[in-house]
Amino acid sequence: MLPVTLTVNGERQQLLAEPRTHLADLLREKLNLTGTHLGCEQGVCGACTVLIDGVPQRSCISYAVDCDGAEITTIEGFDTDPTMAKLREEFSAHHALQCGFCTPGMLVTARDIVLRLGEVPEARVREELSGNICRCTGYVGIVGAVCATARGCAPRDSAAPIAATALAAAAVAAPVETAAPRAAQPLTGGTSLTETIAIAAPPDQVWDAMGDLPALAACLPGAEITEVDGEAIKGRMRVALGPIKVAFAGTGTVSLDAATRSGVLRGAGRDGGTGSSAEGELRFALTPSATGTDVAITLQWRLTGALAQFGRSGLVADLVRRLAAQFAANLQARLAGQAPPAAPAALNLFQLLWAALKARFGR
Ligand code: FES
Ligand code: FES
Repeated sequence: MLPVTLTVNGERQQLLAEPRTHLADLLREKLNLTGTHLGCEQGVCGACTVLIDGVPQRSCISYAVDCDGAEITTIEGFDTDPTMAKLREEFSAHHALQCGFCTPGMLVTARDIVLRLGEVPEARVREELSGNICRCTGYVGIVGAVCATARGCAPRDSAAPIAATALAAAAVAAPVETAAPRAAQPLTGGTSLTETIAIAAPPDQVWDAMGDLPALAACLPGAEITEVDGEAIKGRMRVALGPIKVAFAGTGTVSLDAATRSGVLRGAGRDGGTGSSAEGELRFALTPSATGTDVAITLQWRLTGALAQFGRSGLVADLVRRLAAQFAANLQARLAGQAPPAAPAALNLFQLLWAALKARFGR
């Protein structure tokens, strides 16, 4: 058991949790806050959504110990919140719930949409709600209730989502659409991770391989670089997480320094289907090792939209490491003259998440 200190609905709580305990179980079992529902326990349905430091997150894939020091708001913590009061009224008026199982997560997500975006077209509300599944209502009432609550509201920058997953790598290898100038700016904030991958080939050979950016991107599942023009690149990244499918397309920049065998890739882009957007930066440096080459990488990324809720969990680190391992294996095969990886398919985050969960429980 490990000590965890949280501020839950304004009250400081000192608790003990197993390393494997997720936040939803801690809230439900230790604090009796059973308004946080558990549906899939795989990060797909959104029923367990709570605010972690003000941002909607899946509590079923957020380890409690990772949340040490955080402020948590569950559905029980919005009693004095005027936006939530209005949402509750509109949910009733629009018959936006039947069994009510999805409702706590829907309300937490809906409040974020109203505050962050204000009044937006119905299609945008549907996109933003795409990470929350309801098996009863058919969504018409839910979307109507959110639109009614947001009517006349101005956007407020209340929740710059912190974000997620292996999309880091998405932003890395297939920097994406939208403003190229913005992509060229150093990324500040967001989530970052440092990792070293070992390649069994000499640094010169690895460095040469890194100069072929389209071939390099093909080593990352789902990634594709479609155009290289000097330091400017265009690319795509397809990612699937259960029912959520995104295809980021966008632009970025790359700068390589042969003297230090290091480089920086930056990119930003957007998925037109879900309205999700991603920004990322990858810094890497090659050093010789006993077995060949160590590639030290620092990833930094920021996601918004349907995938943005997968940011806080310690699983993200596992997931990115698994992705890095896949990338290293594919690069290794390419350097050994073996068949290149198949044409880019969608990066299946669900498979990676499941593998990471099994490994954690195994440990
Ligand atoms: S229980 Fe389904 S996303 Fe957490
Ligand atoms: S109201 Fe039953 S799952 Fe949404």
